[in-house]
Amino acid sequence: MDELHRALKIAFASEFAFYLKAHNFHWNVEGPAFPQLHELFGKIYEEVYGSIDTFAEEIRATGAYTPGSLTKFSVLSLVDDEVETLPAESMLVELLEDSTKMEEMFKIVFRAAEELGMHGLSDFLASRQDAHAKHSWMLRSTLK
Ligand SMILES: [Fe+2]
Repeated sequence: MDELHRALKIAFASEFAFYLKAHNFHWNVEGPAFPQLHELFGKIYEEVYGSIDTFAEEIRATGAYTPGSLTKFSVLSLVDDEVETLPAESMLVELLEDSTKMEEMFKIVFRAAEELGMHGLSDFLASRQDAHAKHSWMLRSTLK
């Protein structure tokens, strides 16, 4: 259970960092494709943000405390913070890399939850993996 708790906290902090990055890109993207990219990053951050509260409460339901501070997020997150204002294409490349990382992370945490027979939790984690697969698809297709 300790291992599952740790993996859940890492995935949660990473998901929050991913959400913030997508929102940052929504605000700061520039270039000829601005309307489409502003909209794409907007859809992505809204979808991910919409999952955050449920994710936090799923963690609480396992008995663990949910990280909720920027310091804890920065220590736990496997999605690196972006402090530069990137060109549009670099934003797409980086968010695709991060979304792929989130898919992998949810795949691993899903297995840990399944091993403990926590099917409600694993169902949620599977849905997050699927959501990121869709985000990855849209980012990848935009880059072609
Ligand atoms: Fe907006």
